Amino acid sequence: MAKTKTVFYCQNCGANSLKWIGKCPSCGEWNSYVEETIQPAAKENQWRSGSARKEAKASKPRLISDIALESSPRIVLPDAELNRVLGGGLVQGSLILLGGEPGIGKSTLLLQLAVNLKGKKILYISGEESEQQVRMRAERIGKIQSECYILTETTTQQIFQQIESLQPELVIVDSIQTLYSNVYESAPGTVSQIRGCAGELLRFAKETATPVLLIGHITKEGSIAGPKVLEHMVDTVLQFEGDRHHVYRILRAIKNRFGSTAELGIYEMRGSGLTEVANPSALLLSQRDASLSGTAVACTMEGVRPFLIEVQSLVSSAVYGTPQRTTTGYDLRRLHMILAVLEKRCGFKLGLKDVFLNIAGGIRVEDPAIDLAIICAILSSAEDMAIDPANCFAGEVGLTGEIRPVNRIEARINEAARLGFRQIFVSRYNAETEKIRKESAIKVVPVGKVEEVFSLLFG
Ligand code: TYD
Ligand code: MG
Repeated sequence: MAKTKTVFYCQNCGANSLKWIGKCPSCGEWNSYVEETIQPAAKENQWRSGSARKEAKASKPRLISDIALESSPRIVLPDAELNRVLGGGLVQGSLILLGGEPGIGKSTLLLQLAVNLKGKKILYISGEESEQQVRMRAERIGKIQSECYILTETTTQQIFQQIESLQPELVIVDSIQTLYSNVYESAPGTVSQIRGCAGELLRFAKETATPVLLIGHITKEGSIAGPKVLEHMVDTVLQFEGDRHHVYRILRAIKNRFGSTAELGIYEMRGSGLTEVANPSALLLSQRDASLSGTAVACTMEGVRPFLIEVQSLVSSAVYGTPQRTTTGYDLRRLHMILAVLEKRCGFKLGLKDVFLNIAGGIRVEDPAIDLAIICAILSSAEDMAIDPANCFAGEVGLTGEIRPVNRIEARINEAARLGFRQIFVSRYNAETEKIRKESAIKVVPVGKVEEVFSLLFG
């Protein structure tokens, strides 16, 4: 009998070691190593294992120009945001991983797809919920328009038997962490199981040209193997993110073999499932009260999509010795930098003030182009003077108080014009600005320093 061997795997990144290690030398995670058994002999793949498996054809080298260029036929999905993120639909035979924190809405998104994809035979494999629970969820989402089968099974051997008899055109697995292949001895959710099961599904997808969608959880504790270990195996990695307490969810592609990773999908979580948000700016700006001080509108980019968001700030006298600085949706260190610039370069005394900053809608923004709007919101609150709601801003603030140029300024200006803003403040140093200024329907105001913006806004 073959001797069983055990290896310790980092459940976060998949690195292995013969000994237990406290801190993973590869990804730096603490306490993430778990002992797993590996069996050297049995390496059989459950997809068409044994006699059912056809003789493997040896492939020959071919001239690249001789390979027929069939534009990989894509399945166009009923979900416009998902289509966009995937680069124009689902590619036949692709393996797609959808990652995200528990409770963000992964199961909802894919079940919604499964019941709405007309004219296709879909198999939804649920290892987490019972048939009843999936049915109840489908009831919330709406009308069932497809031939969608639910299978509550977790062993890959059984799953492949069902797939062989059902012949589905799309397979959805919820979630990869619950799958179990009896080739591997470790428990479901460990690195070897996840890798093994995904490998079996990968072979199934490629051999039958059936697209497979996998759901994968990511946890901060690292006790369940993160989808990180799968990233190199799959064709596309999608990330579903957002704040669980807010209604907006963002879907982005981290890796995509068949499309761009700059695209992004925005959804709203409602009582009846996820709805696509085709026009995010209009939604994020809808609840504004024009007469209040401390708010400014920034024109930001997420991927290649421009949208306008509202920045809110509250500046008040500190009650305790050390003033508080709090942000939601924005980097706190960057706020400290901006306050230092205002204090040192522009002479605004904010050292004894509490400063609270909030990006409306629960969205996290990393685009430096919102700096200018942040400065304006802070000054507006500090001076208690409202900014004209027809104004918006796009510019980065440098350490000397200069307004620095930002990328894709034209797209930002056009989005602001489309939404009916009358004036946009941008950096004087944006090379294209002069040209756009002449053609644009909106008044483009070039500014070079924070003081200039201040005198233009508050006189
Ligand atoms: P779920 O898809 O179960 O998340 P995940 O699979 O990523 O763990 O969705 C979880 C949340 O979504 C849950 O808190 C309830 C909420 N939800 C709605 O608000 N509306 C709905 O129609 C559905 C189905 C869920
Ligand atoms: Mg789920």
